[in-house]
Amino acid sequence: MNTNITVKYNDLPIYDIILEQNYNRLHEELEKLDTKSKKVCIVTDSNVSKLYLNSLIDLLSNQAKVVESFTFDAGEGSKNLDTVYTLYEHLIKSNFDRKDLLIALGGGVVGDLTGYTAATYLRGISFIQLPTSLLAMVDSSIGGKTGVDFHAYKNMIGAFHQPKSVYMNLRALSSLSDGQFLSGLGEIIKHGLIKDVSYYEWLKSNVSGIKSRDLDILHEMVYRSCLIKREVVEKDPKELGDRALLNFGHTIGHAIEKLMDFKLLHGECVAIGMVAASYISYKRNYISKEELLDIVNTIESFELPISVSGISAEEVLKVTSYDKKNESGKLKFILLTQVGKAVIDTTVSTDELLEAINYVICE
Ligand SMILES: NC(=O)c1ccc[n+]([C@@H]2O[C@H](COP(=O)([O-])OP(=O)(O)OC[C@H]3O[C@@H](n4cnc5c(N)ncnc54)[C@H](O)[C@@H]3O)[C@@H](O)[C@H]2O)c1
Ligand SMILES: [Zn+2]
Repeated sequence: MNTNITVKYNDLPIYDIILEQNYNRLHEELEKLDTKSKKVCIVTDSNVSKLYLNSLIDLLSNQAKVVESFTFDAGEGSKNLDTVYTLYEHLIKSNFDRKDLLIALGGGVVGDLTGYTAATYLRGISFIQLPTSLLAMVDSSIGGKTGVDFHAYKNMIGAFHQPKSVYMNLRALSSLSDGQFLSGLGEIIKHGLIKDVSYYEWLKSNVSGIKSRDLDILHEMVYRSCLIKREVVEKDPKELGDRALLNFGHTIGHAIEKLMDFKLLHGECVAIGMVAASYISYKRNYISKEELLDIVNTIESFELPISVSGISAEEVLKVTSYDKKNESGKLKFILLTQVGKAVIDTTVSTDELLEAINYVICE
């Protein structure tokens, strides 16, 4: 079983992604960081703390000088500067200094918020990621993007700050709700579609094992997705170019997410957005009708939506045009030139967009 992936920038190893089915090797990672002489603070949310915090504190008790924890209410609603403020207070009261360590135990909300706190507390301290949601394992814990929301604006405040290590216990996926699990699969299908047709085919032939959360199948799946995420972030650490490929399905997906008032999960909106983007790719003769239908079927086979009702195509178009990827009046759209290969395209017209949006809107 593959367990280690090294993330490098400019050919220099920066951190390892470690895939395990328990936390038994975590102490090895902490030893590398010399934590015995340091304070650590485990940051987590109210759901994950009930499941994994106590056992993690036990595990760490011999590994650090002091083990603290900080738990906030689960959900995107906590990913803001108020929570960061309270965490700063906690760290200051506990005399955390520059050499101490934060540990993010949870999904993407915990990872982003802990990373941002680590990036800014005392001008930057170390942190490690222990992602527990599928989305966090294959997406948010890798690449060093950290941040919080500001009022209604998602991820408005942030910093690039690389973790010292990303350690995932795949068994933690067993407690994730079905909705959150399937939502993470949206990003995983995306990885296959944009970068690796053989991975996409592998996903198609392992639908039942993935849905039943067979641990070894999940291990292989998360490993292969992490390889793709690593490849993209290594090429473009600061999101100046090719990292935008990860936005496949996200331009229209984000618009639907906003218009549905976040009632649909992120991965569900990405799934619908991927159908729309694949439709444009088909209309341009980049992929065949059969390939488009195959993508639609694959998304459906993972119980993700392929269409949405209750909003109009014009509204979606309007919000899409406000999307932040809309630079100098040109929409940066991600299309498939073939299954397993994506490109950035700035020539998608309003008519093409509208037709694609109509393809995913049902009355
Ligand atoms: N930094 C990045 O590059 C990046 C990339 C993608 C997304 N994100 C961010 O990630 C966030 C979404 O992440 P998410 O989907 O993990 O959301 P989340 O952190 O809110 O987790 C989803 C839900 O699952 C629960 N949960 C997590 N792990 C669990 C487990 N093992 N068992 C039971 N419940 C568990 C959480 O408590 C929460 O209720 C968004 O804020 C998004 O902006 C960041
Ligand atoms: Zn996403």
